[in-house]
Amino acid sequence: MREMTNIALIGFGAVGKSLAETIRDKHDWLKERYGLDAKLVAISGRSKGSIYDSEGLDLEELLEVFNETGNLESYPKGIKGLSSMEIITETNAQIIAEATITNIKTGEPTLSYVKAALSKGKHVVTSNKGPAALAYNELQKLALENGVQFRIESTVLSGTPAINFSTESLAGHKITSVKGIINGTTNYILAEMEQGRPYEDALVEAQRLGYAEADPTADVDGWDAVAKIMILGNVVLGGDLRSSDVERTGITGITMEDVEAAKAEEKRIKLIAEAYMEDGVVKAKVAPTWLPLSDPLANVNGTLNAITVMTDGLEEVTVIGGGAGGLGTAHGLLSDIIAIHRH
Ligand SMILES: NC(=O)c1ccc[n+]([C@@H]2O[C@H](COP(=O)([O-])OP(=O)(O)OC[C@H]3O[C@@H](n4cnc5c(N)ncnc54)[C@H](OP(=O)(O)O)[C@@H]3O)[C@@H](O)[C@H]2O)c1
Repeated sequence: MREMTNIALIGFGAVGKSLAETIRDKHDWLKERYGLDAKLVAISGRSKGSIYDSEGLDLEELLEVFNETGNLESYPKGIKGLSSMEIITETNAQIIAEATITNIKTGEPTLSYVKAALSKGKHVVTSNKGPAALAYNELQKLALENGVQFRIESTVLSGTPAINFSTESLAGHKITSVKGIINGTTNYILAEMEQGRPYEDALVEAQRLGYAEADPTADVDGWDAVAKIMILGNVVLGGDLRSSDVERTGITGITMEDVEAAKAEEKRIKLIAEAYMEDGVVKAKVAPTWLPLSDPLANVNGTLNAITVMTDGLEEVTVIGGGAGGLGTAHGLLSDIIAIHRH
């Protein structure tokens, strides 16, 4: 195994900072357990500046200084002021851990970052849905051509295993469909409606708790679920889905009468995203669905997420877990870093 692994972190928000804290807290254990000597050599945080030290950043000191000043460049050592692209292409980082803001329309600037990193022979791990949803097949090909890996575990279900679970843990099974609850905000709203709270009130509460954005359309109209089911369809089923291929219905049309009618039939309404094979082609849809209470997905409540994978060897396998949060998502990135180290 390699002596050390140099990592550059692009994006220093909830996920990026949690990854830095996790590497600080687990460094010795990671080395002992996996032989992984994880060294963060650079961080770029847009308005928070950037910092690079080829010998590795002292994370104890860096995080302390950052918590006091809010600026990475207050760290007393190292090279300051490099752009995210310079950090990706001109430092000694072997792995780029990318956790900047998702742009689901163009994937930029992350798409360019990922291409540049892979072309330079650097591995990429990312929690950002943009490049994975828009260009997974192209990026995977680029990674293969350059002898590196492009890993995206935390783009779907954050740190709860979904991608590597389906492609690696279930290796050898023929997978014919993946369906799930992959948007926590809408799941929370639907669960609240079942408790008797009308849609508008449940949405306001979700916003108050920080589950929903001020502009909730990406969640309630199903766009976030579309991006994630494109990723699952393309990665797990080997499809080539574009967003226009995905049939989409959000939850804004669901009424209390619908919720009560489903209840009377011992069913529960969930926003289900599904990718499946039809006549040899991968298809996908996102729609509110009446599930019988016996379906494991019917019992996934609150902000939990879940996927059910249909396999030929085990029939249905369901994974349930948290679908959001900086720490959980950082652990998805960390699991990808460990996987790269192991390979
Ligand atoms: N949080 C979760 O639960 C979760 C779960 C799964 C996936 N994700 C995905 O993970 C990514 C990060 O999420 P987050 O919650 O950490 O978001 P966040 O708190 O908004 O942090 C994103 C950070 O990226 C920085 N940034 C934006 N553009 C940049 C650039 N060009 N170069 C360097 N830094 C840049 C921002 O800097 P400024 O502060 O200067 O604007 C911000 O600090 C997103 O794509 C998100 O969709 C998040």
